[in-house]
Amino acid sequence: MAVLNRFQPQGFKQVNKFLNGVYYVPSIHCEVSPSYALAARGKRIARAIAKLGARPDTSMVSTGDCAAIPIPPASIDYVFTDPPFGENIYYADLNFLVEAWHGVMTATANEAIVDEAKKKGVHEYQELMRRCFEEYHRVLKPGRWMTVVFSNSSNGIWRAIQEAMGTAGFVVADVRTLDKKQGSYRQVTSSAVKQDLVISAYKPTDALTHRFELGHATAEGAWAFVKEHLGNVPVFVGRASEGEVVAERTAQMLLDRMIAFHVQRGISVPLSGPEFLQGLAQRFPERDGMYFLPDQVAEYDRKRTSVSELRQLSLFVNDEASAIQWVRQQLQDKPQSFQDLTPQYMREVQAWAKHEETVELKTILEQSFLHYDGRGPVPSQIHRYLSTNYKDLRNLEKDDPRLVDKARDRWYVPDSSKQAEREAIREKALLREFEEYNASTQRKIKVFRTEAVRAGFKACWQERDYRTIVKVAERLPDAVLLEDEKLLMYYDNARTRLGDQ
Ligand SMILES: C[S@@+](CC[C@H](N)C(=O)[O-])C[C@H]1O[C@@H](n2cnc3c(N)ncnc32)[C@H](O)[C@@H]1O
Repeated sequence: MAVLNRFQPQGFKQVNKFLNGVYYVPSIHCEVSPSYALAARGKRIARAIAKLGARPDTSMVSTGDCAAIPIPPASIDYVFTDPPFGENIYYADLNFLVEAWHGVMTATANEAIVDEAKKKGVHEYQELMRRCFEEYHRVLKPGRWMTVVFSNSSNGIWRAIQEAMGTAGFVVADVRTLDKKQGSYRQVTSSAVKQDLVISAYKPTDALTHRFELGHATAEGAWAFVKEHLGNVPVFVGRASEGEVVAERTAQMLLDRMIAFHVQRGISVPLSGPEFLQGLAQRFPERDGMYFLPDQVAEYDRKRTSVSELRQLSLFVNDEASAIQWVRQQLQDKPQSFQDLTPQYMREVQAWAKHEETVELKTILEQSFLHYDGRGPVPSQIHRYLSTNYKDLRNLEKDDPRLVDKARDRWYVPDSSKQAEREAIREKALLREFEEYNASTQRKIKVFRTEAVRAGFKACWQERDYRTIVKVAERLPDAVLLEDEKLLMYYDNARTRLGDQ
């Protein structure tokens, strides 16, 4: 029924005569009355609407800026949003012609897009999105969910959306791909990503929010957050005969979420990394490297036995953090020697990021894992591996020479208390490197150890030294800063704090 409908002299019915795939306004268009165009479909439309259960007194449709929604606070059960993705599409500009015909123009000032001509960069986009997310957060009831569809090829926009959601108060609990079956206009015509992502995030409950309102952080508050978060994350994800490791339940991810929850509320983080790892293992039962609430474990165990395989997170090793995760996966499956691990490691690290300082496998092993040199009883992780995989090594004592011989020289994954010790030593080493970056007189730091910068930013945040965060961040390559979720989080929040002061 739009002006796109072409008049076709030979056509019998003058409906659906628009040109596919392009925005083409014909020289002679054909106006079709709604009753003519819809009459034949009347029954189908009625059936579809009936299915929605919509009644005039229960539905409302409105159009406007999401940064100013005329709805009272805490009154909405669920938010579904499909926001603009950076500079994929200039919505308002594209509608200019049609809007001019209708005499109604989009108010573009708050349009959340990246557009150089309108002086909207990624930073401005993030700010506009944050204002929309803050409104969603305001109108949503506590403890309820928001789904965000995301489709873009740029990591920078992905980070901007996540940061905007976080500062608005949402906690992300799940990210997965959505197969819409039908590609969008951009997806079929350009090299943009083919699959969309779906982000599920919740608004924390009032009970949790009140704990943080006074602005000071306590260890109990942090654990209350972890508890609520675990309660919101899927217990088991799997299909047919295969289960999946749920990233949100791993120690590293929980630590990152806990830190982000504090930083995004402008408060210091009450637990160090090592304290967190140790406390996590004491408070929450662990299965396959994931943590659960006590009442979730039974469900997990039951479902876990119904699948034969557990698919590990697929890792793309391109920096130190992902390399450590990769080594952990390898050693968890099979404690092995440096010599055995080296060739596999070399194969994995071929896509190492350009700005990322090379980290030797030896350093990774020494800083995050443990080595059995043949003295003392065989550590239980190696013992378990050997007795499951070698018939002749079953039922042997932990100091049996045959077992010791086979176990010698293997690296293995420390248990949670030893891991906390390792982490504490590693953190010190990282901070020493950060100090060097901070003291360096170079205008730009081109190659560095991202883990050291992250550790340094975290330490500065704790000491409210926002100035150092901003100073060092501005010396990093822009592209790196914008694409690193953690660095960006500290930088953005430090800038806000400095502004407040
Ligand atoms: C990805 S599209 C949504 C497409 C929609 N789901 C569909 O299937 O047609 C994003 C939409 O957000 C709109 N938009 C941009 N800034 C906005 C703002 N501040 N408030 C509300 N909508 C906005 C754009 O005009 C665009 O229509």
